[in-house]
Amino acid sequence: MYNIIMIGPQGSGKGTQGDKIAEKLGIPTVSVGKLFRAEIDRNTGLGRDISGYIERGELVPDDLVDQVMSERLAEDDAVNGVIVDGFPRSVAQADVLDEIFTKLNRQVTHVIYLTVSDEESVRRLSGRRVCSNPNCGLTYHVEFNPPKKDANFCDRCGSPLTQRQDDTPEAIKRRLELYHKETQPVVDFYKKRGILFAIDGNQPIGQVQAAIFSALGI
Ligand code: AP5
Ligand code: MG
Ligand code: ZN
Repeated sequence: MYNIIMIGPQGSGKGTQGDKIAEKLGIPTVSVGKLFRAEIDRNTGLGRDISGYIERGELVPDDLVDQVMSERLAEDDAVNGVIVDGFPRSVAQADVLDEIFTKLNRQVTHVIYLTVSDEESVRRLSGRRVCSNPNCGLTYHVEFNPPKKDANFCDRCGSPLTQRQDDTPEAIKRRLELYHKETQPVVDFYKKRGILFAIDGNQPIGQVQAAIFSALGI
């Protein structure tokens, strides 16, 4: 069984590559950011509580994240394996993930660590476009990965593409700061366990995908 964690700075390709692994293995991707954005779009109580954090590029408080993840990972579609994108983002969250998986008689099997420079992150996030359909949500880039049919619409479902609220210069700066301070230590946490696979995320999308598939043996 594959229980895969995607880790890496903003724009390193966690979402882009997570979707490709999911398609190949037939298991779901759980993206914390995507779950949160769906709550905000639906204007739920949770959505209202977290929207300010997301817009400013701050981390959402642990108690809210931990609760959402423990419920989501216990759902039926994830029993045969899962790809987790955006959690854990701190060593404290990594401990919580161990607890969640232990309760489910599972464990993290692979950690895909994508590396890119801060300059490349900014370039990628500034040109990112995402499908506005919450059931699809495919990611594009105006220059590096444009839709093939029409520049403003999703190839897969035809919905209009939008820009994320937190892809502003100020929020990107804050997200990268928090990545270096809070999330980078999680890399060592998994390296010590011998389940970390470091992949050069600066390569073109197809080459990053090939390197990940080879690391996973798929
Ligand atoms: P989240 O949605 O996870 O955002 P993020 O971590 O900032 O990461 P991104 O989605 O920006 O980057 P990505 O690596 O997925 O890149 P992508 O594949 O899109 O989280 C959002 C917010 O939610 C957080 O800021 C926080 O507030 C909250 N949150 C989430 N999890 C939390 C947690 N655990 N605790 C607390 N708060 C939490 O690619 C980017 C662009 O580059 C795209 O346009 C893509 O087409 C392009 N691209 C990708 N790969 C390549 C390539 N190889 N070459 C060229 N272009 C490429
Ligand atoms: Mg993402
Ligand atoms: Zn779509």
